[in-house]
Amino acid sequence: MDAILIRQAPAPLRGTVHISGAKNAALPVLCATLLTDGASRLRNVPKLRDIDTTAALLRFLGRDVVVDAPEIRVAEGTCARPEAPYELVKQMRASVMVLGPLLARYGRAKVSLPGGCAIGARPIDQHLKGLEAMGAVIRLERGYVVAEGPNGGGRLRGAEVLFDLPTVTGTENLMMAAALAKGRTTLINCAREPEVEELGRVLNKAGAKVDGAGTDVIHVEGVPPGELGPFDHAIIPDRIEAGTYMIAAAAVQGSDVLIEGAEIHDLDTVVAKMRHAGVQIESEGRAIRVARNGPLSAVPVTTAPHPGFPTDMQAQFLVLMCLARGESMITETVFENRFMHVPELQRMGAQIVLRGNTAVVDGVKALYGASVMATDLRASASLVIAGLVAVDETEVRRVYHIDRGYERIEEKLRGIGARIERVKGRS
Ligand code: UD1
Repeated sequence: MDAILIRQAPAPLRGTVHISGAKNAALPVLCATLLTDGASRLRNVPKLRDIDTTAALLRFLGRDVVVDAPEIRVAEGTCARPEAPYELVKQMRASVMVLGPLLARYGRAKVSLPGGCAIGARPIDQHLKGLEAMGAVIRLERGYVVAEGPNGGGRLRGAEVLFDLPTVTGTENLMMAAALAKGRTTLINCAREPEVEELGRVLNKAGAKVDGAGTDVIHVEGVPPGELGPFDHAIIPDRIEAGTYMIAAAAVQGSDVLIEGAEIHDLDTVVAKMRHAGVQIESEGRAIRVARNGPLSAVPVTTAPHPGFPTDMQAQFLVLMCLARGESMITETVFENRFMHVPELQRMGAQIVLRGNTAVVDGVKALYGASVMATDLRASASLVIAGLVAVDETEVRRVYHIDRGYERIEEKLRGIGARIERVKGRS
């Protein structure tokens, strides 16, 4: 297994980082190809392990998939078995998003219960409740969700679905199921993330009738199966990747980095909190300039569904607060078990006390390099950022988590002056 070695940045970080397409937008869009006929083309797709896993899953489901990064072409094939096996689904929780499209298109689906990052229980009850409201008959059998359309595999019916809490992939799964259902579906208390909005745009390009994606109420007027056609679409930039490089720049005193190809409005709360902490951030067209010259101040953060502070930026922001003057409270409200980076950061000298779902962070003058273990995708990124400022060498192990969500992270960081390299074969 590879590891990443990082030495303290010898000088402020300077230069330009180009942001890749959004993983969390590309994954549902790839699943949406299951609804369509013909050959679709996706552009600006990031080169990541989660994308390869989804491509493998689509191939298993009979699609003809050509990955030619940053482009992916998906042509229709015959779906011999609307079945997503454990070996593929366990690698990535987002695979559950094939459930809605398969059920809508083929009247039946068998999908393994998901795996993915171990950040809490992460049930899929809201996905299943919504599909049942549309007439699906669902049972859980030996670790699989086995679902059938109404009357033994018929077409799903439009329905009113109220989510008990906003769920990103749950909203996406239901939007895709509703696209081919009979009649009108109203989804209430939806996730409002930019990636949900993006899926709505793509479904409409394919001929679906989706209204309100990106707001908390989405209406979908179903069209008959066979009426959704191919699409050609360039994926939006990855706001979490952009936010991660913004924090990396802010962590190293004196840095001045241009984050190119990012949409600042998708990061409004992160930008506000970073400015509050003393980081200079300017929008320059489709780029964001991040500079830090003075000391960092402690600011409190509470994660929340979009447009609140993203849980996917919590670990990285926490590292920034480890270096700030004073005490900050970082509260995680989206996932119950998302502080696995804390013990690793403590080993690097961070002063953090966990009180329930709040991390109380007391800023320190310096972090110290150590051998640390990546436990989930964003936690891994936070350890890499800590390594950039830590005295001595930091070794981040189990970097396969990073490869799920960050394209060429070491190359991009080297491009702005970081001393970072990948070493092969350390467990
Ligand atoms: C998506 C993102 C992930 C991000 C998360 C929250 C993708 C591929 N992944 O994950 O990067 O961290 O949104 O912004 O887009 N919940 C239930 N029942 C359900 C579904 C969810 O209780 O049926 C709970 C979860 O346990 C969690 C909360 O709802 O506490 C939000 O989860 P959700 O938005 O579903 O996260 P994902 O879609 O898995």
